[in-house]
Amino acid sequence: MGFPERRMRRLRRTAALRRLVAETRLGVADLAAPLFVREGISEPQPIATLPGVVQHTVDSLVAEAKHLVSLGVPALVLFGVPSSKDDVGSGASDPDGIVQVALRELRSAIGDDLVLVPDLCLDEYTDHGHCGVLDRRGGVDNDTTLERYADVALAQAAAGADLVAPSGMMDGQVATVRRALDAAGHHEVGILAYSAKYASALYGPFRDAVDVKIAGGGDRRGYQQDPSNLRESLAELRLDVAEGADIVMVKPALTSLDVVAAARRELDVPVAAYQVSGEYAMICAAAERGMLDKEAVVLETLGAMKRAGADVVLTYFAREVAELLGGGEAPPR
Ligand code: PBG
Repeated sequence: MGFPERRMRRLRRTAALRRLVAETRLGVADLAAPLFVREGISEPQPIATLPGVVQHTVDSLVAEAKHLVSLGVPALVLFGVPSSKDDVGSGASDPDGIVQVALRELRSAIGDDLVLVPDLCLDEYTDHGHCGVLDRRGGVDNDTTLERYADVALAQAAAGADLVAPSGMMDGQVATVRRALDAAGHHEVGILAYSAKYASALYGPFRDAVDVKIAGGGDRRGYQQDPSNLRESLAELRLDVAEGADIVMVKPALTSLDVVAAARRELDVPVAAYQVSGEYAMICAAAERGMLDKEAVVLETLGAMKRAGADVVLTYFAREVAELLGGGEAPPR
């Protein structure tokens, strides 16, 4: 008859059949919501390049967090926008810095119902916009930066973080943070490591969201990875696990699905994928112009991250997706 014995289309005929045999599912429990909190504002501020995302006040952040809890979203990742910046990013480790203030408020308002994950980096807090402390020649000094990261980790842990998320791509950052946390008795605070993080043009809108301009039109290629490389990502991932990472993350997500798949294959810790600001902006912009169906593309891209092997997906669509799924799984299509 010219057909293969096995008719593949049989199991695709109805939505119920497709649902029965789906190999992966996207659920609300997979989601983590990145949120921004800004010091010194009395109303939430829109972000031009991230439609629908805002810089929160502490109060509006707490309200949003409660809403996420009610939807069943298990985690939020928090970025701070300080009202003043300096050369070493002092605000990042200040006990009264915006993220520490926000963490304490979140914890007292929602208890343990949401996993609180502050991003651990300096770029939002430095006047030069780099993720670390500069040396005399203007390069980012690895080991001086590690000392700052240890201080930031301690401030975040004391303010109530469940997991801290070092994102600066300094060598040894996970080991440094683990050692500092343990020495201070914060054995229960875990590390979600940005392990494989490429120097990507897809972070553009995020830098608007946190008011970061890199001095002299510079970039982060001296510490973030070259997008050409896969083996290097595996080395980074393995190092972070060896240094004590509890969860590893790959970023950006859609352009790194091969890395997510490799991480899932090679490692036994949970793997997270970060659908970054540029991925969000591309979908929103195309949808606004009527070029594609936003809901369908969001579910398809997040579903692809799950299929690649992600256990956790960070996405600015977290609330929308949770509302859409109504606490269940992606609807049959
Ligand atoms: C660094 C950090 C960045 C992002 C998350 N953590 C910016 C960068 O590396 O330049 C980007 C996230 C996004 O684009 O959504 N603190």
